[in-house]
Amino acid sequence: MKTFNDQNTVAIKFKLNTKLIEKKVKPRKLLSDFLRYDCGQTGTHVGCEHGICGACTILFNNKPIRSCLMLAPQVDTAEVTTIEGIFETNEFDDLKKAFKKFHALQCGYCTPGFITTIVYLLKNNVFLNEDEIRKKLSGNICRCTGYTGIVKAVHEVMKIRFNKT
Ligand code: FES
Ligand code: FES
Repeated sequence: MKTFNDQNTVAIKFKLNTKLIEKKVKPRKLLSDFLRYDCGQTGTHVGCEHGICGACTILFNNKPIRSCLMLAPQVDTAEVTTIEGIFETNEFDDLKKAFKKFHALQCGYCTPGFITTIVYLLKNNVFLNEDEIRKKLSGNICRCTGYTGIVKAVHEVMKIRFNKT
C-alpha cells in the first residue's frame, strides 16, 4: 500500500491503451488532468469536474468511470482506455459511421464520454431497445443534440451487431 505525501511525487505504472506507462505524479493530481496534460490524451474532456456531465469518462479496468473523480495515483497497476485507444483499431468504426449518419454530435465536447460509455455497453453484448439505451446513457450530458441522434446511432449499431435488422 502506497502512502501519499502531497509534497512528493508517486511512481506509478499502468497500461494506457496499448502502452505500458511509467510516470511520477503529484499524489493529488486529478486523473483527468494527468491523462490530458501528462499523457497527451486530450480526448478526455473536462466539463463539470465534479462527476455530473460524463465528459471525462474513460474505461478503468474495462468499466466506465469519471476520471475527474479519481486521483492519478489510483491508476497504478490498472488498465486505462481512453477515446484515443478506442479508435486505435477499426473495431468501433460502425459506431463512428452511425454517429455521422444520425448527426449524433454537434460541438463534440460530450462525444468521447458518450462513445466510451457506449463501447462498454457494446462490449457487454446485450441488445437494448431505445428506451434502455437512453437510460444507460443518462449519466452523460449533451448540451447540443437533444440525445435523439445518439440513441438512434447506438440502436442502429446494436441492431446490426445482433442481427436484428
Ligand atoms: S468532467 Fe468529469 S463528470 Fe464532468
Ligand atoms: S455535441 Fe455538444 S455537448 Fe454534445
